[in-house]
Amino acid sequence: MSTDSLHDQLYAHLAQWGLRSFSSDADYFAWQRATLSAAELNRLNAQVERKRSGDRQDEIAFYDLTAELHILPVLYSQRYEYFMEIGRRVLPRIGAATTVLDYGCGVGILTTFYARRCPETQFVGIDRSPGSIAVAQSKAHALGLPNVRFECRDVEVEVLRGSYDRIIATHALVQAEQDPGMPSRDWTTFERARDEQQQAAFEQRTGIDVRLDQLSEALSPGGCMVIFEKTRQLARLVPFQRALARRGLQLVEPPEPIRYRLVEEVADDGPFYVVQKGSASPFAWNEAPEPDEGVPFNRAMLRSVPHDPDPDIPLYENHWPSAQQVWGSLVGRLVQQEETRREPDGRQLHVELGSAEGLVYLYCANTFDQRQLILVEGSRKGMLDSYYREILSS
Ligand SMILES: C[S@@+](CC[C@H](N)C(=O)[O-])C[C@H]1O[C@@H](n2cnc3c(N)ncnc32)[C@H](O)[C@@H]1O
Repeated sequence: MSTDSLHDQLYAHLAQWGLRSFSSDADYFAWQRATLSAAELNRLNAQVERKRSGDRQDEIAFYDLTAELHILPVLYSQRYEYFMEIGRRVLPRIGAATTVLDYGCGVGILTTFYARRCPETQFVGIDRSPGSIAVAQSKAHALGLPNVRFECRDVEVEVLRGSYDRIIATHALVQAEQDPGMPSRDWTTFERARDEQQQAAFEQRTGIDVRLDQLSEALSPGGCMVIFEKTRQLARLVPFQRALARRGLQLVEPPEPIRYRLVEEVADDGPFYVVQKGSASPFAWNEAPEPDEGVPFNRAMLRSVPHDPDPDIPLYENHWPSAQQVWGSLVGRLVQQEETRREPDGRQLHVELGSAEGLVYLYCANTFDQRQLILVEGSRKGMLDSYYREILSS
């Protein structure tokens, strides 16, 4: 199938669900205001807040609310590009599968797309939100899809039956969005210790232990899992990948990070994984930080650049993981003040003020992969002195 026709088919499918694509946030919000009452918006916002607590019932109530027919198109249109990006990647990976499970299928927007495009394949969509499943069932009926069945099930409370050639889990495994993940060994490294207790604690807190156990059990021999979760930060990515590997799941293709537009934000999401049990994989799990957009440190350029007329702009600044390598390469580093301490949330923080290469620097690093390096001329040292104090007092 050509990319164009796949795009057009997804586009037409989303339109049948009443979803709209917007070129500006202002247009989206004008439509939202025209469609939903202030009371509905308040109800929605209040439920979003309650869902943040991580309580199971609150989460189910949130998804039930989003499935209300009046609310559904408005809310899910915020994720329009998500559906386009995920739908076009998952569909070709269904291939010749005869049975497919879409775990956490929600209202079935993508499940019904796959079922329409693969009439020879039997699909089962499961979700623990009764409201979402009721909508999915009635949509499948309206679209005349005999090859898809939707069931209200919570894989954390009941055993998943059946065996599937493909299991799809998109934005449904790692629901704990606030969980910071697993810290690095210490502030000098991005490496995570191989600590079984820390790993088990992450899996338990996020609920992926039971979810992944159940799903990997339901995978038929030779079957594949297609996974897309919010695990782009290294602190979440590492324990998530280890959770897959612990269950014998190996990469079938290189993981793909995906960027797409939502309302009021751009999401750097994923990566998109295709995994299989047991087989030796040519693709290794990567636990290193992604290549970043930090400015390379160019000594010759720094010296030739005249002092910036804006006194608040440093000579050099890098907020990316690559700041660590630049800091490590500073010649003749002389530390003037430094402090390493444990923050109330458990992370280790290091702040350092010093001189090197005829300049003054401030370096800050923590065990959740944040790095910051700032360099100024000696005459502007006062600026870094106050940043140093600010960081330590905040
Ligand atoms: C963000 S929605 C994603 C829906 C869909 N997969 C998609 O990509 O649009 C997450 C869904 O996972 C479901 N879910 C979360 N935990 C679940 C569990 N333990 N068992 C079944 N469904 C679950 C929620 O009810 C919700 O509908």
